[in-house]
Amino acid sequence: MSKRIRIDKLLAHMGLGTRSEIKKAVKQGKVTVDGKPVKDSGLIVDPDQAQVAYDGEIVVYRDVVYLMLNKPQGVISATEDGRERTVIDLLEPEDRLLEPFPVGRLDKDTVGLLLLTNDGQLAHELLSPRKHVAKTYEALVQGDVGETDVQAFAAGVTLDDGYAAMPAELHIVNREQKEGMVYSSISLTIMEGKFHQVKRMFEAVGKKVIALKRVSMGPLRLDETLAEGAYRELTEEEVALLRGHRQTNG
Ligand code: URA
Repeated sequence: MSKRIRIDKLLAHMGLGTRSEIKKAVKQGKVTVDGKPVKDSGLIVDPDQAQVAYDGEIVVYRDVVYLMLNKPQGVISATEDGRERTVIDLLEPEDRLLEPFPVGRLDKDTVGLLLLTNDGQLAHELLSPRKHVAKTYEALVQGDVGETDVQAFAAGVTLDDGYAAMPAELHIVNREQKEGMVYSSISLTIMEGKFHQVKRMFEAVGKKVIALKRVSMGPLRLDETLAEGAYRELTEEEVALLRGHRQTNG
């Protein structure tokens, strides 16, 4: 089956820039199809047939997919499971065709930003412990989170298994009393992703995470217009940001 796609869309899809950057590159004569400079960034090509080059480099077209999911509670961050519903079960059948998988894991009861992609290289780099990709969480914590905790997290707390967590940035958003208990709303940015890390960091200071939501991963922020359980494709700007992030940190 022949594929037909606009040249600017194809190049943006491959992470070579935003649509407007590509338009500029077309004007500068940097984009060629079968050796001839493209004049119109709306030109329709079949990527399996045409030889597309950008700045003299041949562009090998791959069908990649990048989805941002606002993960709801009660589903697991896996592609398949015999018993439990997975994040892939939330996708429409046509969005499963390119076999996206979750980039990292959120606990079953954690909500928020989860990137799903079939771009193994990007996933690997976002998850690599050496890259220290920042992840920001918002949480409701049972207990009176205070300045001592901010300092302990900034210094790096020791988890239950003896692991010394890297310094993390804790912000106290609000504190309230309910039925004699203090609850704290916080945001926390960590640069690593150990199993149950946020929950275990609070356990290390004698407190309990009641609700947890991830709001960002590297340069990617959760689109708050997505209801829990809803998802959308990343915009070209978001893909470019993620790839830019990979280059500057790589
Ligand atoms: N930390 C946790 O404890 N759980 C998550 O799902 C993510 C980070």
